[in-house]
Amino acid sequence: MCRTALVTGGTRGIGAGIARTLKSVGYRVAVSYQNGVETAEKFQKATEIPVFSWDVSDYGSCEKGVEEVHTVLGGDIDILINNAGVTKDCMFHKMTAEAWHVVISTNLNSIFNMCKMVVPAMRRKKYGRIVNISSVNGLRGQVGQTNYSAAKAGILGFTKALALESASKGITVNAVAPGYISTDMTDAIPSDIRESIRAGIPSGRFGTVDEVAAAVLYLIGDGAAFLTGTVLSVNGGQYM
Ligand code: CAA
Repeated sequence: MCRTALVTGGTRGIGAGIARTLKSVGYRVAVSYQNGVETAEKFQKATEIPVFSWDVSDYGSCEKGVEEVHTVLGGDIDILINNAGVTKDCMFHKMTAEAWHVVISTNLNSIFNMCKMVVPAMRRKKYGRIVNISSVNGLRGQVGQTNYSAAKAGILGFTKALALESASKGITVNAVAPGYISTDMTDAIPSDIRESIRAGIPSGRFGTVDEVAAAVLYLIGDGAAFLTGTVLSVNGGQYM
């Protein structure tokens, strides 16, 4: 059966890697994005994966966006990959309330919003796969990321609680915690700091988006039906 998967923040970075991988093995895939129309159009043209624009931090925007996906793809979303996220790195003593709220609402409230859109149908159909993208920095904390680490750690609690509620309904809820992956987000880290981070990764390098996508692919597969509430680290040994 051809399952439908939605990847939020799916037109670039880790999300795009996941979307491409899922499509390549036969899933019907849609992605959301918020800004960057040009990037989204390029992505759609290159992959033939339909793109939809909405703000995952806004409940009403998610309702409209998901309705549009249903209309265009025709059917429920069987697999949700909550990937959309932003950083606003800053030492806590200099962090503005805005930098806190933007990161919490985009990275954590979005998980609530998007799961609300798909879980009722998954429960009815007794099938669903949800993968929430957390981070090594949600597991261990990171200088300059009180906002991001809090959101990414919050995702882990959410994942486990929803996994407990959903296990008897054929729905698995898992998290993937990527380490430092080569993307625009990590490219934005000042180069001296990036180099010191790289030096601290036992594998000696940043990961690739395809390496994260492989973990997601495993978690949504039929072979992982008994695996729920878990956190899969993809971090080159940086934290265990
Ligand atoms: N460990 C311990 N202390 C650290 C540190 C570290 N890794 N990095 C910086 N510090 C200390 C500095 O030594 C300095 O201390 P003193 O004031 O006592 O000298 C203090 O923190 C402030 O450092 P900076 O001068 O660098 O301060 P800044 O305001 O210019 O920049 C920062 C702070 C924005 C946090 C900058 O250090 C930075 O960008 N760090 C990288 C943060 C990071 O790893 N972000 C991950 C982005 S990618 C991502 O999030 C994806 C994912 O999931 C992994």
